[in-house]
Amino acid sequence: MSEHSKFKAGPPIVGVSKNIQRVRELIDHVAGTGLNTVVFGESGVGKEVVAQNLYQRSPRVGKPFIKINCAALPEGLLESELFGYERGAFTGAEQKKKGKFQLAHSGVLLLDEIGDMSLPLQAKLLHVLQSGGEFSPLGSEKEVRADTWVIAATNHDLKKDIEAGRFREDLYYRLNIIKIFLAPLRGRPEDIPPLIDYYMEEYTTMLNNRHIEKPSPAVIDRMCAYSWPGNVRELQNVLKRMLVLGDCSQIIDELINGEKVGMAADMAVAETSHHASLEQILDLHGVNSPDSQSFSLKNAKKKAVEMVEREIISHVLAKTDWNRSKASKILKISYKTLLYKISDLNIIPPEK
Ligand SMILES: Nc1ncnc2c1ncn2[C@@H]1O[C@H](COP(=O)(O)OP(=O)(O)OP(=O)(O)O)[C@@H](O)[C@H]1O
Ligand SMILES: [Mg+2]
Repeated sequence: MSEHSKFKAGPPIVGVSKNIQRVRELIDHVAGTGLNTVVFGESGVGKEVVAQNLYQRSPRVGKPFIKINCAALPEGLLESELFGYERGAFTGAEQKKKGKFQLAHSGVLLLDEIGDMSLPLQAKLLHVLQSGGEFSPLGSEKEVRADTWVIAATNHDLKKDIEAGRFREDLYYRLNIIKIFLAPLRGRPEDIPPLIDYYMEEYTTMLNNRHIEKPSPAVIDRMCAYSWPGNVRELQNVLKRMLVLGDCSQIIDELINGEKVGMAADMAVAETSHHASLEQILDLHGVNSPDSQSFSLKNAKKKAVEMVEREIISHVLAKTDWNRSKASKILKISYKTLLYKISDLNIIPPEK
């Protein structure tokens, strides 16, 4: 089987958010150009879908679409996979093998996780791109030439990697002629309902149109409030679990409770040096991250209030030796409200 016959058409890019609209526009503009493109975004956010859509809308559709994960292979192996080798080029090279760069000739090469490529290999890749696709396979004197459209994807902030000396600036500018940024799902909750609809329909077809229960509007609301650290991939997994287990409400409860425990841990870290500084709170809630889309004043305010409440209640509980009745009087809230807040804010009693 040839490599490119493995290409599986990607789904359409589902979503209504500004970010997704912009991504669709960029795909429309770029697909015909063959300009080197980098797709940025967290894990599971849809980088590969964007690369597939670029390819499907380009004149290269039908030609090879080859993907290679730069993080998954050690440097030497990645080099030989990318550029191929002659027989006898190294121990074990019993047969001549074409590299992915050449196999993707006239089509697309998706360099996934480009941020994890080693510096020497980055230098070689830069050279290939500068020479218009010329390179020598390992152990060969002869140059081969491939007309390959390189699309790269990464969840790294490559600018930071450049500052830290982990990524070549010249390669960055060579690859990154077009930049497509996919925001994390938590920054575009309005995409969650259309994604749920799209995938519920997909799964219904997969299950031979067996009737499947959609999450109720209340559950969908709660799904929109969850932070989805695994992005669309996590959403797909949760939908599949909901299909199998049926109890949507319990599944989303578990997610949100798990998130609270995680958030409490984040806060504990932020609080280690006395109180969390404003800078830390901002960082914690995404204000200083490159994708300001994940930030909203409303969310930050809610979280800041929770943080202050948590700190005050923990302090009073510690002072009263966890006498909740006394603590509720000091706090001037009812005993029941205090119990609710202890559980809601995930305040954990000290170990005796
Ligand atoms: N906007 C979208 N519309 C429809 N499906 C999507 C969308 N975004 C992501 N998906 C689906 O979510 C899953 C994860 O997407 P994809 O593999 O493209 O993410 P990724 O950013 O490449 O992740 P990773 O960094 O882990 O490689 C895929 O099954 C993909 O089809
Ligand atoms: Mg991917």
